[in-house]
Amino acid sequence: MRILITGASGLLGLNLALEAINTHDVVGVDRCQLINAPFEQVCTDLMEKGALESVLDKVQPEWLIHCAAMANVEDCETNPGLARNLNASLPGDLASACKIRGVKMVHISTDSVFDGSKSDLYTEEDVPNPLNMYAKTKLQGEQAVISINPSAIVARVNFFGFSVSGTRSIAEFFINNLNAGKRIKGFTDLMFNPTFVGDLASLLLQMLAMDLSGLYHTASGDVMSKYAFGVLLARRFGWDESLISPESVEDSGLTARRALNLGLSVQKLLTALGEPIPDFSTGLDRLYTQFHQGYPQKIRSYQYA
Ligand SMILES: NC(=O)c1ccc[n+]([C@@H]2O[C@H](COP(=O)([O-])OP(=O)(O)OC[C@H]3O[C@@H](n4cnc5c(N)ncnc54)[C@H](OP(=O)(O)O)[C@@H]3O)[C@@H](O)[C@H]2O)c1
Repeated sequence: MRILITGASGLLGLNLALEAINTHDVVGVDRCQLINAPFEQVCTDLMEKGALESVLDKVQPEWLIHCAAMANVEDCETNPGLARNLNASLPGDLASACKIRGVKMVHISTDSVFDGSKSDLYTEEDVPNPLNMYAKTKLQGEQAVISINPSAIVARVNFFGFSVSGTRSIAEFFINNLNAGKRIKGFTDLMFNPTFVGDLASLLLQMLAMDLSGLYHTASGDVMSKYAFGVLLARRFGWDESLISPESVEDSGLTARRALNLGLSVQKLLTALGEPIPDFSTGLDRLYTQFHQGYPQKIRSYQYA
C-alpha cells in the first residue's frame, strides 16, 4: 500500500514510517525537519491554505495516518489558537479530503480525553471530559473525524520510544537521566497504558489491513503509574531504580491540569484483532534492544541540523 504519514519527524510518525517501509510504500509529511531518512518526504506546513489537498493529490496514497499535532500539553495552554487549528480543525479537514478521495484514514488521538476520575478502566463507551487545552482540542479533532468520515479509524494512544530530539518520550526522560546517574521524580498518581511505539506502529498497520473503522483504544493492556514505568525501565536496563523518587503530580508545578487514572480497556481492539496485543514487557525488551543496537543514534541522525 502507498501510505502517507503526517508528522513524520515526530516520535510516532518517524518510528511508524521506519516500521512501515518494511512492507509498504511510505511518504512522510514534515516541515523540512528530516534529512537522509529512508523514505520519501514531502516538506509542507499543513496549516497553509490548500496544503493538505495538494499533498493528497500529489502523493495519491491509499492510506493516510495522521500523526501531526500540537502534542505538547503545556504549549497548548500557552497557544490555544494554534492548538485548536492543529488538533481540532485540521483532522476534520483531512477527514473530509480523504473521504472525497477514497483514502482510508487513521487519526491519532489520546487517552487524555478522559478526566481520570474513573476507578476502573475507560472503555470507548465512556464519556470523555478533557481537563486541559490539549485534551479539549484533541477530543474536538476525533469527534470531527468520526462525524465527517465514519470509515476512518480513530486510535487513542499513549506510547514510548526514541525520537529525533532525544527528549520527546517518557522513555528518553528516564533513560537520559538514569544513564547519567541523575536523581529524578516519577509520578505515582498518573496511570497510563505505556505502549512501545514499534508495537503501536504494527497495530495501526494491522487495523488498516483489516479495514477496521471507528474508535479504538490502541495500546498495550498493561496499566501502571509513570513512577512504575521508570522503575521497570531502570530494572530492565540495569540502572539504579532508587534514583527515581516517588512523587505526586500535584507537587510538580506543571501548569496544565492532568487527569490521574487514564487506564484504558483494550477489549474492543482485542476482540477485533482476534489475537493478543504485545504487552509492556515485550515492548520494553524491544526498546532495550534498540538502545544497544544504536537505534537512538540512527534516529537522531535524521534530524536536519
Ligand atoms: N507522545 C505521546 O505519548 C502521545 C500520547 C498520546 C497521544 N499522542 C498523540 O500522538 C500523535 C503523535 O504525537 P508525537 O508525540 O509523535 O508528537 P511530536 O513528536 O510532537 O510530533 C508532532 C509532529 O507534528 C508535526 N507538525 C506540527 N505542526 C505541523 C504543521 N503545521 N504542519 C505539518 N506538520 C506539523 C511536527 O512537525 P515538526 O517537526 O515540523 O514540528 C511533528 O512531526 C499526536 O496526535 C499526539 O496527540 C501522543
